[in-house]
Amino acid sequence: MQNRGIAARGVSLDFSIGVDLGTSGVKCVLLSGDGKLAGQAGKSYKPDFGERGCVEQKPEVWRDAAFSCIKELCSGSPEAAKNVVSLAVSGQMHSSVFLDKNGGPVRPAILWNDTRTTPQTKEIYEKGGGREGVLKEVCNLALEGFTLPKILWLKENEPENYARVAKVIMPKDYINYALTGRIATDYSDAAGTLCFDVKNRRFNADFVRRVGVSPDLLPDAMESTAVVGLARPDVAAELGLPDGVKVIAGGADNSCAAIGNGVVASGQAVISVGTSGTVVAFLDGIRAEVTGAVHLFNYSYPGSLYAMGCMLSAGECLNWLKRELLTGESFDELNRLAAEAPIGSNKLIFTPYLFGERCPHTDPNARGVFFGLSPLSGKGALARAVMEGVAFGLKDMFNLVSGFAEMNEVYITGGGGKSPLWGQIICDVIGVPLKLLNVSEGPAFGAALIAGVGAGLFPDFKSAKEKTMRVEKEYAPIPENAAEYAKFYPVFREVYASTRELYGKLAEL
Ligand code: XUL
Repeated sequence: MQNRGIAARGVSLDFSIGVDLGTSGVKCVLLSGDGKLAGQAGKSYKPDFGERGCVEQKPEVWRDAAFSCIKELCSGSPEAAKNVVSLAVSGQMHSSVFLDKNGGPVRPAILWNDTRTTPQTKEIYEKGGGREGVLKEVCNLALEGFTLPKILWLKENEPENYARVAKVIMPKDYINYALTGRIATDYSDAAGTLCFDVKNRRFNADFVRRVGVSPDLLPDAMESTAVVGLARPDVAAELGLPDGVKVIAGGADNSCAAIGNGVVASGQAVISVGTSGTVVAFLDGIRAEVTGAVHLFNYSYPGSLYAMGCMLSAGECLNWLKRELLTGESFDELNRLAAEAPIGSNKLIFTPYLFGERCPHTDPNARGVFFGLSPLSGKGALARAVMEGVAFGLKDMFNLVSGFAEMNEVYITGGGGKSPLWGQIICDVIGVPLKLLNVSEGPAFGAALIAGVGAGLFPDFKSAKEKTMRVEKEYAPIPENAAEYAKFYPVFREVYASTRELYGKLAEL
């Protein structure tokens, strides 16, 4: 039953499905072996926000939404659905699904943006040999959002639940489990657990044990393109898929998004300006000293890694400005007003730390600042200052990532890349050419490519990229603008440096 279309027709008219399981919804895309998007579907849901930074979600909500989205996709393109050969899921990273010995969730999952685990991160440093020790073992710092602190939290705060946990997996693994009956993860999601020896690509049982967690709780891990199993016949029938569909391991959303944005070789990187902002660069190995300045995770491109800087609010800063201050203006109008303001926004600087920050400052208490308000700070200056502040934050991350990876072909994606003004500001601030591709459903599309490569629909990611992606627009730095921004950047850096001590005090009030 496998590779029906390829074998039967000698031409690649088979399809893969990519699913992106996000924080606020799920998206699915259908991709043909000749590189065309043949269908899309989406469903939204809301995580449960509790007190003291708690964010949880029932894994069953993810499964129901993903299943209903796949069903809708298949019923919307019934002919294509018959020729689906593979499916892969991209998922929010770090969020912890606790399964009992029968595979049922012990409690709701604790999500990546839940911040209840500060005491557990301290404990991990204490038991794991301090910052240096932890970096040596797992290549990343112990952040509140990561999985290991959540497992420890469960052990210390809900011992009865902890005693019932047989395996801990991530959200996309739960969908794979619901599809196939097999509990497993992939290297890119394993890397975000803080339990994984990123350099040697295996769970670090000694480290996990030393910190106080049983390594038996960790699942099998494999490449993103490996086959987890075939979709169970009853599940395939329920979803409208043919028998024998391969479920490919898939990966972490940032990894899948970078694949879906064309990062498939050394030298390539992508800047994403969505709600959050990221700079992700391909790594064929770790050659620089591991400092924790950026995340180092295993990549969905087999055998490789990526370096990532992640700022918590990028596009969200402009959303906030529109929602709370410049109500009544459309995004087009904000762009028009910002274009009329001069570079430097009449000497107004914005620091984009609305939700605290992860990179370049690991500071949950940091907050945004407008520095330099004057009678000249009109709507246009405010909007431009926000765009410039986000661009300076991206430059901070770009500089850090460039300590690990060469970046000579850089893509831009998300709202910041699509706005010609914002895209040009980012390009001038960072000072490198940026390419905008024809793809938009980054992680879901990347998952469809992973499913395609995993099932042999495409021989490899490079040929998948050639078939599916083309450059739609190129930004080139304008030297005079870049020179102007270079004068403002050090002042932007100083705004946080000189207010650093105040954020903790503000948080304690
Ligand atoms: C990455 C991270 C988020 C989540 C949610 O480290 O925490 O990007 O993957 O999308």
